[in-house]
Parts: sequence; structure tokens; C-alpha cells
Amino acid sequence: MKMIYQKIDAHVKDFYPFHMPGHKRRFFSTDIINHDITEMAGLDDLFSANGDIARLQNRIARMYGARHARILVNGSTAGILASINSCCGEGDEIIMSRGSHISAFNALALSGAKPVYIYPTLSALGYLEQPGQRVLDTILQHPNCKCVYITSPTYEGFCADVYSIANIAHKNGKLLIVDEAHGAHFGFDKIFPLNAIRLGADIVIDGLHKTMPALGQTAVIHVGNDNVDTDRLDFFLRAIQTSSPSYIFLSALDYAFSTILADSTYFERYAALLSQARGQIQLLNKISLLETDDPSKLMLIPPVNYSGDELYKFLWDRGLAIEMSRPCYALAMTSVCDTREGFEWLTDALAKADESFSLMRQHELPSVSNMADYEFSEQMMTPREAIASKSAYVDINDVVGRVSADHFVQYPPGIPLVVPGERISENCARTMKGAGISRFRVVTDQ
Ligand SMILES: Cc1ncc(COP(=O)(O)O)c(C=O)c1O
Repeated sequence: MKMIYQKIDAHVKDFYPFHMPGHKRRFFSTDIINHDITEMAGLDDLFSANGDIARLQNRIARMYGARHARILVNGSTAGILASINSCCGEGDEIIMSRGSHISAFNALALSGAKPVYIYPTLSALGYLEQPGQRVLDTILQHPNCKCVYITSPTYEGFCADVYSIANIAHKNGKLLIVDEAHGAHFGFDKIFPLNAIRLGADIVIDGLHKTMPALGQTAVIHVGNDNVDTDRLDFFLRAIQTSSPSYIFLSALDYAFSTILADSTYFERYAALLSQARGQIQLLNKISLLETDDPSKLMLIPPVNYSGDELYKFLWDRGLAIEMSRPCYALAMTSVCDTREGFEWLTDALAKADESFSLMRQHELPSVSNMADYEFSEQMMTPREAIASKSAYVDINDVVGRVSADHFVQYPPGIPLVVPGERISENCARTMKGAGISRFRVVTDQ
């Protein structure tokens, strides 16, 4: 049996990555093991930074237009947990999309905040859409709610109207937190949208490792203004993250922000290569490119009688590992570290797929509605109440109609099909069974 490192070595040798992390294995080649030390004499401390880390955080804050920035070594997850906990306590209302990443629901379980869910619609292609105007309406309908939490962009690259949401939230005395985990590159070139801090959000979480030259697990949380209690936020960041942050992360970030990210020519070159690749894909006859707000995401739509999974496999067989696929689309993630050769490899392979896919093929594809994904269920109690209730594992054949005491989530994109406190639907139970789950935790003392 191969060891993990051997499997990874083989993957790295055989594939070009159109997936996370954004460094694309082409960056920060320093002998990394030597950097694996944590805070010691002469080095700055992540949780009370006043030396090199403070300088780096100030530089990052300036680049994004933020008042303060804090580096995260436990991913965007740490920023989402800390921000929600710092803004909302037990019983406080928070407006959020039910299509949020699992970390936001875990934040509710920890803080005791009461969600006012906005249920996003499922697009014809099978991804969750932005709730749009309904966020503004919900803010006006809930004068007592303390905070609004949105995701922009979504995993597939669709943005919310952050500017209008921030305006309405502030006029109504609420803080706006934005999960910008997939938009850390926003604002770095004019082909990308502006970042949420510049659009008026109070707290923004950027997942550096997703789209930037940064190592897995690294992210940054920005504070936009004095409405935010930064001391309280810092308390939760200390509570949630490791007390031994590795300098591997910190020195790689310092390098990225002082080199590639400080020199606009890298992003100009990337924007040109990306626009050229998008133009070539748009010329194909059978494969199409879905327009997204974030052009870095290549949402590839195969012809109707082929699935996204088949397109994924076609690319995989040609040495291209893309981020993910679904029945109706396949998603490739690009970054400033992609090479001209990488883009050409992808566009050539897509041209070959376009040629070889036959429109005459008879082939039954799974329909989006059969996927059972995201048929959200009724909320019976808050996540905190469900976690605090008595619960037990029951056979998967007996879960329909019971109140969930756990999440069921599939990656990507990490949006739970059921969260603690929701009644488990037949569709959800079927999907769980399909995923090989034989027992699931439900509330027993309702
Ligand atoms: C929209 C969104 N938010 C937050 C996260 C959490 O990010 P991280 O894995 O860096 O903790 C993810 C991860 O996939 C995500 O897709």
C-alpha cells in the first residue's frame, strides 16, 4: 500500500492543478521545513503582534483598504467562527443565507445566535444562487436582528450586491460580515470585482489559500471600521486558533505580499492570460462557459448529453486536475500563479473535448432535481438548542421526520444539506444513504 506522501508525490508529478490552493505549487520554494517553528525569542507573536507580523498585517490591511487585518492559520473557518461569535451572543438574531458554508452553522451552535435564514434558490444547473433582493427585504423585516452575514462570491463565483446590503444594514443599525473566502483576489486587477471591505462591509473573511499564492489553511480577516469591537474579535481568534501557529504560513505570506502581490504586473499578466483563455473557450461549439461575476472561476458547461463529471474525467485523463464537477457543469479554478503553458494545456484539452463530444449520442443524464441537493428542511430549533438537546444515533432508515442533531455535508462546496435543529426530509435521508451513511444523530428529547 502506498503511503500518503507517495500518493501525493505521484499526483503532483502527473497533474497540472486547476484547483485550490492558489499557489499552484509554483511558489515559495524555500526549504520549508526550516520555517516550521512557532513563536520564540526574537520572533513576533501572532496573537499579540507588534513586530514583523504586525508589519505584515498592516501591509495586508492597506492593500485591501481595511482598518485592521488579522492573519488566520486555521482557514476562513476560524474567521467565520470568531466573527459571528464576536458580534452575536445567545438569542441574538442573525440574518444569513441557508446556503452558507458549514462553519457559519457551527458558529451559531457555539454562540447561541438565532438564525433568520434566507433560502437560496437552486439554479437550473444545480448550484445555489445569491438570494439577491431578499437580503435587503429581510433586513427591513427584522429590526431587532444584530447582524447580517453573507457569502460573496459563492463557491461558483457569483457575487452579492455588497454595497447596497452594507448601506441598508448600517442604516438599520446592523453589522455586515462577508464570507469572501473565494474572493481574496478581488480588487487586485480591474477584471475582478471590488473587495467587500471597499464596498462598505464591517468584517470580511478572505481565504488566501483558495485563490492567492498562499499555503493551505491561510486566510485573513479584515475589520473595515470602528463599528467592530476588535478586542472582542481578537479574543475569539485566540480562542479558536492553534496556540502554535507555524512560521511556515507566516513567512510564506510575508513573501507573497512583498513580491507577487505587491507588484501589479503579475496580476496584469494573469488577467491577460485568463481573458485570452476565456475568449478561446467561448469560441467552442459544444462546450460553453457560464458568465460569472468572478472571471477567475471557469464554469464549464458540457453539451446536454454529457455530464460535467465526464468533462472532468476527459481533462483528468489529459493530466489536468480541475476543482470539481457536478452533473451539469465542471469548475476549474485559476490564479495569479497559473502559467501560460497551463492555460494552453487547458484550452487545448477543451478544444479536443469539444471535437470528440458527439451531439448525436443518446445518453440519459441525472436530472438536477434528482440530486436531492439543497432541498432545505423546516427549522424546528436553533443549532445551539439541537446540540444541547439529548441525542442519539439511529439507523438511517429511521431518520425521516426526526430533528437532526448533526450536519450532513458534502464537499465541495461544504454547504450542509441538513443542519442541527432541522427536520430530516426523505430526500435528505436518501442522499445520506447514497453517501454510505448507515447511522445518523438525531434529537431524542423533543
Ligand atoms: C464559501 C466558503 N466559506 C468558507 C470556507 C471555509 O474555508 P477554509 O477551508 O479556509 O476554512 C469555504 C471552504 O471551502 C467556502 O467555500
